[in-house]
Amino acid sequence: MAYDSCWLSSKVGLANFEVRGETPITETINDELNQKTELVDAKKFIFSTFENLSDAEKSIFDSFEIKDEGYVIKDTGVAVYVVGMQDKGVLYGMFHLLRLLAQKLELVGIELVENPYNDIRMLNHWDNMDEKDHMGSVERGYAGNSIFFENCAIVKDKRRIKDYARLLASIGINSVSINNVNVHALESKLITKELLPEVAEIAEIFRKYGVTLFLSVNYASPITLAGMDTSDPLDENVKAWWKKQLAEVYDFIPDFGGVVVKADSEGRPGPFTYGRTHADGANMLAEALAPYGGLVFWRCFVYNCQQDWRDRKTDRARAAYDHFMPLDGTFLDNVVLQIKNGPIDFQVREPLSPLLGGMTSTNQILEFQVTQEYLGHSKDACFIIPQWKEYFDFDTYAKGSGSTINKIANGSLYGRQHSGVVAVANIGNDANWTGHKLAQANFYGYGRLIWNPSLTAEEIATEWIQLTFGHEGKVLEIVKNVLLDSWPTYEKYTAPLSVGFMVQPHLHYGVNIDGYEYSKWGTYHFADCNGVGVDRTKVTGTGYTHQYFEPNIALYENIETCPDELLLFFHFAPYTHILQSGKTLIQHIYDTHFEGVIDVENFIKKWDKLEGLIDVESFTNVKDRLHLQLANAKEWRDQINTYFYRKSGIADLHGRKIY
Ligand code: GCU
Repeated sequence: MAYDSCWLSSKVGLANFEVRGETPITETINDELNQKTELVDAKKFIFSTFENLSDAEKSIFDSFEIKDEGYVIKDTGVAVYVVGMQDKGVLYGMFHLLRLLAQKLELVGIELVENPYNDIRMLNHWDNMDEKDHMGSVERGYAGNSIFFENCAIVKDKRRIKDYARLLASIGINSVSINNVNVHALESKLITKELLPEVAEIAEIFRKYGVTLFLSVNYASPITLAGMDTSDPLDENVKAWWKKQLAEVYDFIPDFGGVVVKADSEGRPGPFTYGRTHADGANMLAEALAPYGGLVFWRCFVYNCQQDWRDRKTDRARAAYDHFMPLDGTFLDNVVLQIKNGPIDFQVREPLSPLLGGMTSTNQILEFQVTQEYLGHSKDACFIIPQWKEYFDFDTYAKGSGSTINKIANGSLYGRQHSGVVAVANIGNDANWTGHKLAQANFYGYGRLIWNPSLTAEEIATEWIQLTFGHEGKVLEIVKNVLLDSWPTYEKYTAPLSVGFMVQPHLHYGVNIDGYEYSKWGTYHFADCNGVGVDRTKVTGTGYTHQYFEPNIALYENIETCPDELLLFFHFAPYTHILQSGKTLIQHIYDTHFEGVIDVENFIKKWDKLEGLIDVESFTNVKDRLHLQLANAKEWRDQINTYFYRKSGIADLHGRKIY
């Protein structure tokens, strides 16, 4: 079930291979290669760590710069070698080789070196141990229920977890947290003896695929688990309790990765209750984990979620920076601050979080969201790789020109020890893993991109399509077309020009323009009869622009230079404002919303041509969802256009239907 038409479904393997060494991971390599049934027997293939090569072989590989988890694939004439410094590197190299075979690419004379660009390549699951339908629900999950939890417990049948570990290793993911950052009563117990034996079983499955297990923890655990009357990070008993409890975790899982913490955020407990700082809270956990090399991922998604909409001074976009910048340099070395890509919350378009690069002396990890919370819930197609590429390439100028997000994420800009990228996962127990078949490309592409951010979105799409649907040229052309156009299309018919959050409250799918306008969540668009947008300038607005470095400050501060696509994030603009595109703001809103629907109609026409060329299940899965997407796009178009027509009183230049 699990691999029909997924990027690992190819049966092409090797007839003549040798795997050296005996570790859980080399066992995995053997298992993987032994599963294949269409065998290529042209050559001998040798899978080995550098250590297990003979002296003569070593001399061939000596000159390659292979880092910890990297590998070399080289045809020496005698054999094709896959060599890594660690068995994990060999495993990644094996998946690379299988990918090349499945893509029918040439192996004769091959020579390539691969080292991951980011050290930490992680996924966070927002999975719950709750009872919903007697299965574990997944917060913001759109692909079925949890593969880890059911019936308020850890799943008994763990085969799907093994399948998942394969998927992870095949795209280079090396770290996973399995429970929601919103840690409820039951999941709090994952760090206790009651559940650790089973958590350890999951860790063992992952270990064989080179994946390190992390858990999200409840900051108030000393109270909820131990009945203490405080979780004050400076209280000696609290500190001692965490040390004891985390030591117990290591008794069961010696290579436990550490903890993910959402504290003082959206109602979760944290150090603020005791008048302590985030550094106090994070460092207390870090001390307990340090003897074992464990890490604390401390999330920076901290803002006032009880805002009064009448209060125009408080700006949610400023919050993470305002909270964490003053603490720069005060976190212990095994604390990593986890920062969402944008200052608000994974909208279709946001500027980069100024905290990325702002802090010079603190480990940081960049957080993306693969699950399509605000990007169409796996009903609408939205290939997110092009968005992430833009984010990676963004120049913060933190240390002068060339200070890209890429270099901040991988720690090289400031020489940080622990760094990388994490994302909220989009998989569940649906047979195809991701609900929408095309959403598999986001999962696949996430792993590929953070391993090598210089890959283009098109290269990644091509790989996924060929591995998943085979080699028919027309299939490649059509699927690639739909994927690459899908994010721009989604942007066209939803909230315009980065104003964001015109969605159904809580659900976050579908249009509701004023749904959050008078709420406590700090996400307002301020549309009135004159214009729309949030003034975040220093001179007349909230001052958020000044959290960036020059020349970005000047770029964003000035309405004339602010890039069109970010206009309404930074400025309140009149409807008659002329964009850099030459159109007025109001005409841009009308045009893009009409175009967005036409784009989706074209997706449907193109997709229909695939009937008979790809498997029926995938064909129908996407076709059905494209029709849901069309209905959604029409609703957005008509509500947005009507709303802004009524606010502005300005007619569409082309006289199209507005209600
Ligand atoms: C968003 C999302 C929540 C999630 C939160 C987080 O607000 O809607 O479901 O818990 O982000 O990242 O912690």
